[in-house]
Amino acid sequence: MSTDAQLRDDIVEIGRRLWLRGFVASNDGNISVRIADDRVLMTPTAVSKGFMAPDMMVITDMDGTLVSGAPGRKPSSEIKMHLVAYRERPDVRAVVHAHPPLATGFAVAGIPLDRAVLAEVVTTLGSIPIAEYATPSTQELPDAVRPYVKVHDGLLLANHGALALGADLFGAYYKMETIEHFARISLVARQLGRENLLSREEVDRLQGLRGRYGISSPAPICVDETPGTTAPGGDASCQVIYAPSAPGDRLVPDTSVAQGAGASPVGTDGEIRLTYAQLTALVDDAVKQVTEGLGLKR
Ligand code: 13P
Repeated sequence: MSTDAQLRDDIVEIGRRLWLRGFVASNDGNISVRIADDRVLMTPTAVSKGFMAPDMMVITDMDGTLVSGAPGRKPSSEIKMHLVAYRERPDVRAVVHAHPPLATGFAVAGIPLDRAVLAEVVTTLGSIPIAEYATPSTQELPDAVRPYVKVHDGLLLANHGALALGADLFGAYYKMETIEHFARISLVARQLGRENLLSREEVDRLQGLRGRYGISSPAPICVDETPGTTAPGGDASCQVIYAPSAPGDRLVPDTSVAQGAGASPVGTDGEIRLTYAQLTALVDDAVKQVTEGLGLKR
């Protein structure tokens, strides 16, 4: 059992790592840990999480009322979002909120991280859906995340950031790292124009390995064969992961991602999909042909 002093030090260290890794800017982000049934130790509002000291932290009850803290320190403005995670999930003892740029980019684009791509992510986090947009610091935010925290340890907040839940402070922080790392890898694969997915059968196999690694899943994975089902407002009752069935195969080429350079612009549905660069080149070429045909100089 960690002491109060150790937990304060851990929050300071995690804030420093969030800031150093560029997961937060200015006063972004907040960190909390449940220290008793009715007590939460958390970061104060409006400080850079990269430069905190242990005595800056505040203690609140489970209604968010300040119990103790240095004079002038108030709890994070996102305290209600943290409290809803603790209320819905007794197994969750720590919460980290940050704005990591790649994961937040997916949240801004409305693209959930719900494809079965990396074995480690399927095993540790499952799917990472997007909670509907809510104005920060208002009751809207806990209301938006409530359905998702019941069954997910990591989620994106539409046009805002990301949230990670854990059994302890570093467990929650490492999940935030995994969310951002997964977003980075997903972006690179999509820019390269191809994304091979783990098959549904491989996802089942990975789920079976969770026990071996001592990972308890908050909910069973519901393998889905339709991409995008965890878009904001989508099914939040289970961990929906897009993984096509392919008995005998572990990897399946995904044809539904945006096509990159060198890939065929014609989707499986016959729809032509072009990148901005491809479209510009086509328009330039058309203009050139017309002007040349008319004998005009550009
Ligand atoms: P606090 O400084 O109040 O914790 O707020 C930071 C933040 O990220 C709000 O979303």
